[in-house]
Amino acid sequence: MHKKGFIFDLDGVIVDTAKYHFLAWKKLAQSIGVDFSEAQNEQLKGVSRVRSLEKILAWGNKTLSEDEFMKLMGLKNDDYLSYINKMDASEILPDVSKTLDFLIEQKQAIALGSASKNATPILKKVHLFEKFEAIVDGNDVSKAKPDPEVFLIGAKLLNVKPENCIVFEDSVAGIQAANTAHMLSIGIGDKTVLHEADFIVKDFTEISSEFLLNIISGNIEKTKQVNS
Ligand code: BG6
Ligand code: MG
Repeated sequence: MHKKGFIFDLDGVIVDTAKYHFLAWKKLAQSIGVDFSEAQNEQLKGVSRVRSLEKILAWGNKTLSEDEFMKLMGLKNDDYLSYINKMDASEILPDVSKTLDFLIEQKQAIALGSASKNATPILKKVHLFEKFEAIVDGNDVSKAKPDPEVFLIGAKLLNVKPENCIVFEDSVAGIQAANTAHMLSIGIGDKTVLHEADFIVKDFTEISSEFLLNIISGNIEKTKQVNS
């Protein structure tokens, strides 16, 4: 039996929390007189909390003291958590549970690879925590995506070589991180945004068991050139 490592991003891949991050950042930004567009929001996906606030401040030409910066990060997270606290299993994105169950049935290794420091509580809220053999999140990494650190730690914990790992991601930074790690990258979302991925699907309803079995048996390999 072939064993691959399947690494899932969380926000926007397993659950639709991307919309909650957007709402919370938007409210925070407005409170300091900064506005940003949906297109700019795309650049916040997969990006750490600190880096996100830095980007928003740069867009609005604002500078803050260290104390104000920390205060705003806290406010954003409190607002975000008010959405998270209301979450339940109904917010798992279509066919994610089916895909996880299929991979478990096929005895594949499964990890989470997320920039979020809220990953564990979210997975517990939607009752998916038990499905993961390893969890790597914003508390475990020193270098944010597009650095491949989060996925390389995931591969190590799963005891699977990076080239035998597959990453599901909805962010450009995450696809770049997977590619740099020499992992098969599967973009979940918009084809025009995620064009650097090896494969792109709208959501997990477009991922068939045949496709997964072909990956597991090594019939599907990386298509994108990797800079290394
Ligand atoms: C990523 C999200 O998964 O986690 C980003 O795509 C978010 O939008 C980042 O900023 C950090 O999340 P958190 O929960 O630690 O603020
Ligand atoms: Mg994401």
